[in-house]
Amino acid sequence: MRDRNSDREEVMVVGAGTMGAGIAFVAAQNGHRVVLVDALPAGLERGRMLVAEMAGAAEKRGLLDSAERTSLEARIRYAGTPIGADAATIIIEAIVEDADAKADLVRTVSAQMGPRTIFASNTSSLSVNALAHHCADSARFAGLHFFNPVPAMKLVEIIPAPTTSPATVEMLVRLVEAWRKVPVVARDVPGFIVNNVARPYYGEAFAALGEGIEPETIDALMTGAGGFRMGPLALADLIGHDINYAVARSIHSERQGLARFRPSPEQAELVENGLLGRKSGRGLYDYVSPRPVAAEAERQHPLETVQAAADCGALEPLLDRLREAGCLVARVDELPSGYLSINSLRLAIGDGRTLAEREDVDVLLDIVRDWITANAIGVTVRTPAGYAVAAMLGARLGVTVHTVPDRPGQIVLRSLAQLANAAADALAEDVASIAHIDAAMRLGANHPEGPCDWTMRHGVDTVEQALVHIARGSDDAIYAPSAGFALLRDVA
Ligand code: NAI
Repeated sequence: MRDRNSDREEVMVVGAGTMGAGIAFVAAQNGHRVVLVDALPAGLERGRMLVAEMAGAAEKRGLLDSAERTSLEARIRYAGTPIGADAATIIIEAIVEDADAKADLVRTVSAQMGPRTIFASNTSSLSVNALAHHCADSARFAGLHFFNPVPAMKLVEIIPAPTTSPATVEMLVRLVEAWRKVPVVARDVPGFIVNNVARPYYGEAFAALGEGIEPETIDALMTGAGGFRMGPLALADLIGHDINYAVARSIHSERQGLARFRPSPEQAELVENGLLGRKSGRGLYDYVSPRPVAAEAERQHPLETVQAAADCGALEPLLDRLREAGCLVARVDELPSGYLSINSLRLAIGDGRTLAEREDVDVLLDIVRDWITANAIGVTVRTPAGYAVAAMLGARLGVTVHTVPDRPGQIVLRSLAQLANAAADALAEDVASIAHIDAAMRLGANHPEGPCDWTMRHGVDTVEQALVHIARGSDDAIYAPSAGFALLRDVA
């Protein structure tokens, strides 16, 4: 922690809600004197309480002792009006997400800012460019998008307007780094990086749900095979469907109804029925009387021997894990590359085509991000014998096997490929660099790996080809591969 005896420049935060209080806390934690402003006395009171809660949590975790906590809290002053804006090095607004209210605030407060003061907005969905026009000096205005909860989330998106000076961007980058967070610079497009590129995480889960696949199956595959910390549907339940759906609608409307941002009708229905998620006791899952855990499927006899092609490509790590688990792997030259054979049935990894399109395959395996740590696999089978083979494989690996209907890209491949497609689109639109897109998705959305890194690891051509198959199989142009893949191919 920074030297808290020498106070640093003053930071003004306007709006003492969840975000404003979080930003004020982090600024004070890093030695700044802070003025936290809220128009409502109740807002200020809530801000004070939120700061006290964050300070208490930091003390409990041993990040501060009680004297440090007292001096941190003493560095924050609470005010009903933004008087003294001229003394602040930076003013960060985090008031209600309303274009008129924000424009009004930027206009009145920026009229008082000092000659070097920077004005930043924490807006998550409004146009930074439109807000910059209301600032007395638009060269010193930019978006500065923190994530909730502010003390814990490392990512901060910096969004320059076309009028923002390079010196302002540089100062914001330095400030974010000084606050021990990670800055990424994003162009002013709806949703910036994270809320733009992450849309398919939810969109794909709702699409699968709309086809009748159980939420438990979708979430188990996205966590157990996709490596995500939380399944998309459990996460949407946690965020609240009203909020998540409002973000989807807002981005869709700002993108002039572009199909790939279309909100999900399944989510709209949840909102209409008041099934908002955890906060209302029920969303896709029931938090009041949870479903009893399904009885374990009959234990299958674990696999003893698997026949494998001389080159199994993406399935080689699976073979390593099988060997480690005591299974014999016999190489068979007659098997085409990438194929396994168990009990005379052929298994292959999905490439975006359906099982129906792959006549020489009996069991289609959905992709797995990391075969070493996976605890679930998705399979599409033709016959009960196919399921039995998949179950034997799962029993040897110690992973749960989920059957997935025969749909293009199954669950995990389709979701990861469409996240990659969104990242490639962001590259094509020059929203941010490859490194910043990946950092934003890891640190702002808690994804286990950046979508660009995954694409390059899985193979740019393979991902593009999978999308071509999915677009054709689903007859939906939202899966057509983005022109941005060419930029990834250049660096891969
Ligand atoms: P909030 O509703 O918790 O707090 C907003 C506060 O602003 C309230 O205390 C309100 O009294 C005050 N306020 C409203 N108009 C004001 C004015 N003219 N002058 C002074 N104070 C005023 O809102 P929250 O969730 O903290 O969001 C604030 C901003 O941060 C919004 O722009 C939001 O889009 C953005 N944001 C929110 C995130 C979240 O997860 N909640 C994440 C990232 C950004």
